[in-house]
Amino acid sequence: MSKVTVVGAGNVGATCANVLVTTGVADEVVLIDIKEGLSEGKAMDIMQTANILNLNTRLTGVTNDYEKTAGSDVVVITSGIPRKPGMTREELIGVNAGIVKSVTDNVLKYSPDAIIICVSNPMDTMTYLIHKTSGLPKNRIIGMGGALDSARFKFYLSQALNANPNEIEGIVIGGHGDTTMIPLTRYAAYRGIPVSELIDAETLKKIAADTMVGGATLTGLLGTSAWYAPGAAAAQVAAAVIHDQKKMITCSALLEGEYGEKDLCIGVPCILGRNGIEKVVEFDLNDEEKELFAKSAAAVHGTNAALA
Ligand code: NAI
Ligand code: 2OP
Repeated sequence: MSKVTVVGAGNVGATCANVLVTTGVADEVVLIDIKEGLSEGKAMDIMQTANILNLNTRLTGVTNDYEKTAGSDVVVITSGIPRKPGMTREELIGVNAGIVKSVTDNVLKYSPDAIIICVSNPMDTMTYLIHKTSGLPKNRIIGMGGALDSARFKFYLSQALNANPNEIEGIVIGGHGDTTMIPLTRYAAYRGIPVSELIDAETLKKIAADTMVGGATLTGLLGTSAWYAPGAAAAQVAAAVIHDQKKMITCSALLEGEYGEKDLCIGVPCILGRNGIEKVVEFDLNDEEKELFAKSAAAVHGTNAALA
């Protein structure tokens, strides 16, 4: 029996629950929100696709009743406010820190062994807050940002190449922020062929820039932040844990010297399995990438300071 709880039945949480159910990641999914009736309604709507889509996962929606989340293997935290056009993720810190702290306390009361996946923004800082306040070992706290940013990077690369996004490799490390993420163009490839062999330097620069503001672009178009890819990326991370996939996915992890940084959570390639973050993969960055990573880490430290 595997069980996943998704906290927050808004755009991202409900999409994550829907992907978990439609892809059969867990036997049981609980969707919980403070807003009366919201999770019940979304769960009922999703479960009414079960017969149409031949689904076998049981999804339950509950209003603030954490007892129903008991025994979860994985908890995905999406509760909080999203950004509006013109807002940065960092501006959400005050409200979201209080929500993320109380939600974490509640879920751990009933699921003391759960792996926590933090989605709420500013995500690197919210992940760090969970580390600071929960006392959980570092492998059990995963920040979801790099999975999404890397998917956006691969999307933009696939558009430039007129290629199937599934055939593109590419990772984004660093903070999950418009100015802090680092698309690693040097390592991006199309079926093993470095993209620098196929796309001119100016276009590659534009792809990296578009990736960095990928979230802001969608917020401008939608009037609120995006949800399909964020929800799917959170479900992808949950699946890697539930199914012990040993997949390498960029996640926000607590660093203790890796990449020359410590005492912060920031996006680095991680091996994900049943124990959460089973390994932080370290590889050599060139001088330019090292400088960008150090700058990104300094910015994340700056946002973390606002928690005090
Ligand atoms: P939303 O407003 O659609 O949903 C948030 C939900 O959280 C609401 O239904 C609200 O009632 C609920 N909520 C608030 N306080 C709660 C509490 N104490 N307990 C339980 N539920 C509570 O927002 P959306 O678009 O789903 O975004 C959620 C969060 O995810 C935002 O902080 C957003 O910035 C972040 N986000 C992060 C991404 C990432 O890659 N890390 C990507 C996209 C969004
Ligand atoms: C996103 O990247 C705003 O974090 C949110 O879409």
